[in-house]
Amino acid sequence: MKPLVQIAGILVLLVASSACSRRTAEAHVAAPAGQPANVPASPEVAAAEAPLSYELRLGKETFQHYCKICHGETGAGDGFNAFNLDPHPRDLSDPAFQKTKTDGDLKDAIQRGGSGVGLSPLMPPWGKTLSTAQVDEVILYIRTFKKTES
Ligand code: HEC
Repeated sequence: MKPLVQIAGILVLLVASSACSRRTAEAHVAAPAGQPANVPASPEVAAAEAPLSYELRLGKETFQHYCKICHGETGAGDGFNAFNLDPHPRDLSDPAFQKTKTDGDLKDAIQRGGSGVGLSPLMPPWGKTLSTAQVDEVILYIRTFKKTES
């Protein structure tokens, strides 16, 4: 009697766990502990983007790697870290900002950091991390940030 109960128990466990893992795979919910979460690429972002030139794609990669954490995915100043920064990074997609700043201004701020151009020292200097070409590419990418008119 006892072994039978055990076998039944094991069967129940097997069925339950396989049903569970199937559901996990379908729904893209959190991966089992110890494995990277299965985060699907955001379809809205991909769909909204026009094809980018090679330089723009490099600039985007640089921005997403180094800048997004503070400046936010779209440059709006709402990155993960932004709440922590006083002053907050400004909205780089603001048309007024885009108009008043030349590429040279942006280059200076990026290469020399906030403290190098009289802004907050919380904006780090990138001149030693990024090559001049990378800075130019990231500026090209920042120039694509536009608020959608509503
Ligand atoms: C640790 C957070 C942080 C990171 C990372 C960061 N920034 Fe900033 N950035 C700031 C803050 C804060 C300011 C605002 C400084 C101010 O207004 O006094 C700023 C300002 C700027 C400005 C100047 C805006 C102006 O008012 O002229 C530019 C351009 C800029 N960042 C680009 C970048 C780029 C490009 C990167 C990535 C290579 C980057 N930032 C990474 C925090 C960050």
